[in-house]
Amino acid sequence: MEPKDEIKQRLDIVDLVSEYIPLKPAGSGNFKGLCPFHGEKTPSLYVSREKDIWHCFGCDKGGDIFSFLMELEGMTFPEVLQFLGKKAGVEIPEFTPEKGRDEKQFIFGLHELAGRFYETILHKHDEGGVARQYLKQRGIDDELAKKFQLGYAPERWDALVQFLLGKEFVENQITAAGLAKFRQSGNGLIDRFRGRLMIPLFDSAGHLVGFTGRLLKEEENAPKYLNSPETMIYHKSDVLFGLHLAKRAIRREKAVIIVEGNLDVIASHKAGVENIVASSGTALTESQLRQLQKITNRLIFSFDRDAAGFEAARRGIRIAQSMGFDIRVIQILPSDGKDPDDLVQKNPARWVTLAQKPVHVMDYYFAKALDDYNVSEVDGKRAMAHFILQEISRLADNLDQEHWIQKLSDVIHVETSILRGMLTKQEKEAVTTQPKTFSAETEVKKITTLSEKAASFLIGLLFSEEDAVNDILPRLKIDDLPDPWQRIYKEFIILYNQRKSENHTQNTFFSLFQDHLSTIGLESQISKLSASVIRAKELIDGFTRDQVREEISRHLSLIASKSHDAKRKQLEAAIRQAELSGDEDRLRALIEQYTKLLN
Ligand code: UTP
Ligand code: MN
Repeated sequence: MEPKDEIKQRLDIVDLVSEYIPLKPAGSGNFKGLCPFHGEKTPSLYVSREKDIWHCFGCDKGGDIFSFLMELEGMTFPEVLQFLGKKAGVEIPEFTPEKGRDEKQFIFGLHELAGRFYETILHKHDEGGVARQYLKQRGIDDELAKKFQLGYAPERWDALVQFLLGKEFVENQITAAGLAKFRQSGNGLIDRFRGRLMIPLFDSAGHLVGFTGRLLKEEENAPKYLNSPETMIYHKSDVLFGLHLAKRAIRREKAVIIVEGNLDVIASHKAGVENIVASSGTALTESQLRQLQKITNRLIFSFDRDAAGFEAARRGIRIAQSMGFDIRVIQILPSDGKDPDDLVQKNPARWVTLAQKPVHVMDYYFAKALDDYNVSEVDGKRAMAHFILQEISRLADNLDQEHWIQKLSDVIHVETSILRGMLTKQEKEAVTTQPKTFSAETEVKKITTLSEKAASFLIGLLFSEEDAVNDILPRLKIDDLPDPWQRIYKEFIILYNQRKSENHTQNTFFSLFQDHLSTIGLESQISKLSASVIRAKELIDGFTRDQVREEISRHLSLIASKSHDAKRKQLEAAIRQAELSGDEDRLRALIEQYTKLLN
């Protein structure tokens, strides 16, 4: 038995969860309590002793006891394994990746190993000397470096590759993990990261999923930061740098600071401010903000002083406003430096003070506008009024709006009645950009869109790629498909089985199928189908047979998992509904269905 399963068998999930939150029996052998991951007054976190799982129907988090501790304590998986192993009296061997486990698992494994490899080079090898020197110059001591598991990728072509091959990984696995690429000659691999300070990136559960590598000296032809490519486990737009180390502090401070740079996060820890994450230079995404929303409702932006920083902050602030966050800003003044890292190096105490006293987002906009416009001239006044009113129109509360209109009037010496008139006009223009709401329905819709894309690809392939039928037919379940693909696929199977013996080419079969769709009244689907045939063909252009197979597998598993997710979301919505209406019997039945689905 896997140590994880043995631990689960020996420990009682209800006892463990009770150590953190009080639980009460909830019928059908389940327990419930107040969810620690979002504020609530009536319990919606359920724990099932029988299935060894928990789920909160309020904030949608859930999993087993491992994920519970990872979320709550900010521990990584191996840490929880050690921690619970001790409790359960199960010996945990040091992590050794083996071949043949599922793909995601080995990519996680490879990253753990790579991370340790880079760390060892940084701290213990001669080759790491330059990087140790660099850290010193940036004010990062050993303790801080170890906290963030920083490392160094040596200045060699294949240092990591050789190390990993020695651990019995094969070339394709290393490239799939994004850690190396094939040489131009096609023979052998070269490391993706060479001569860079390595900063590991973690997902919200605390797994090492990728790296960003910083050049030690700025060079002309190389990017300052190089990131892992998107892989099965690394999705750039989901990762918030530093979140795994920040959760506890975010709960304690009831706020999270968002900065642009990874080095800003590290510097901030040095000053003792730990409730901080970085968007890592990309535009902040809904997905990142949703992760934060589960822990706190207050965001404090502290972006770079430059124009790019301001634009990035404004974009992020708008998304966050539409999601209902309470937003503050830490303003870095010219005398503070260009970013939080700069400031901490100069004056850590000032960073701590600023972090305690963020300003209102409107104050931030006022300061910016006064920097940009000369309000002693009429054009400057108009520009500032326009800019500020646009932001005022985004404030939900009338009293707030009134307050800032007053202030604007004071600053540019224009009557509030005129400003109010301008505001109404702008609001009318802005009604099209209403805030989005995040409900189960929109979630389900999002899932459907993804699986629709995958469905379109697979069904398109049926008509455009030889052999695809044999790969897809036995593995694609009709029920897992979203409409209208479900219907189209059903008809495909019918016609295919009827005409199999006639040895049609794909093209003649495709026209046969179009006729078939017309005769059964589905001609409206023909153009959609044709488009997907074309797109599928385009997507696999230049692929080898094996690569096509891989794509097929990837899309098949996507559809299966999305279908599962959609069912889950629908059940969860039903459960919330039943909870609200107090229908106990229905609730019990739904929860039973739900536990079955999760198994
Ligand atoms: P900055 O250029 O502001 O970096 O980019 P920084 O944090 O101040 O870096 P130092 O102090 O010069 O080392 C902010 C973020 O944008 C991303 C990185 O994640 C960086 O932390 N970035 C920047 C890239 O991904 N690639 C680049 O070439 C530059
Ligand atoms: Mn910097």
